[in-house]
Amino acid sequence: MAIVTEQLTPTQLFKRQWESYQVVLNEDYLEHKVLYGSLQQYLQQRASSGPLRLLDLGCGDSDYISCLVEESGGERLLASYTGVDLSEPAIEISKQNIHRVLGNGRAQWHSADFLSYVKGCEEEYDCILMSFALHHLDANAKAELLVECHRLLTKSNGALLMVDIVRKPGESLEEYHIRSQKDVDTWVAVPPDARASFTDHMLKYDFPETVAFIEESGKAAGFKHVASHCAASKELAQFIAMEA
Ligand SMILES: C[S@@+](CC[C@H](N)C(=O)[O-])C[C@H]1O[C@@H](n2cnc3c(N)ncnc32)[C@H](O)[C@@H]1O
Repeated sequence: MAIVTEQLTPTQLFKRQWESYQVVLNEDYLEHKVLYGSLQQYLQQRASSGPLRLLDLGCGDSDYISCLVEESGGERLLASYTGVDLSEPAIEISKQNIHRVLGNGRAQWHSADFLSYVKGCEEEYDCILMSFALHHLDANAKAELLVECHRLLTKSNGALLMVDIVRKPGESLEEYHIRSQKDVDTWVAVPPDARASFTDHMLKYDFPETVAFIEESGKAAGFKHVASHCAASKELAQFIAMEA
């Protein structure tokens, strides 16, 4: 029997959405494997001169990044981890995942809006990760966030690492939504009602940009070197690094 979403408590709703997202990750529907493979190479190379201080904006449950850190030697890769997310239940799972791979005292979390967090932040980081999170902001807020990230990364000559959904060159938001919806229709391991929730969420909250737009916004924000490292084969997501 289908579960009626409106009757779920916020905790039940989170659990249900989180379980569906776990299926998306396990089935690699968003091509995390290839994107995070490229991200891992990038982070390992940057950590060759010493472990990194990482800020993860929109960290969610930190599932994929914690596995990446574990495979890369834990504290050999990261000196510290700071997770920021609006969702407190997601942060609770993130804590479990990160504590598995980093020692006590090396990680902290902020339950906050990531744009507000970076605007008020004076900490120094070597890398800022935004994984499947930037696309939630409108174009002006994306530009503002890039400027604030550049400010935070300047002293350390750090890098902003974005793994996110993207539109194809010349593709409108509406065309992207249609293309993405067709892709979601192929996620057979996700129950149909959960697929409908993904599509609903996408139409309301997903505002991906083209790679060219993100790259140009990065340069306008002051990043010296902006490069796309890995495009997923479905052309729905990309890993872009911006160096301050
Ligand atoms: C699709 S999930 C990605 C989670 C994780 N980074 C990953 O790649 O698996 C997006 C996350 O961004 C968070 N998020 C969305 N908008 C946010 C905002 N304005 N401030 C903080 N977190 C936000 C959501 O709560 C969610 O956990």
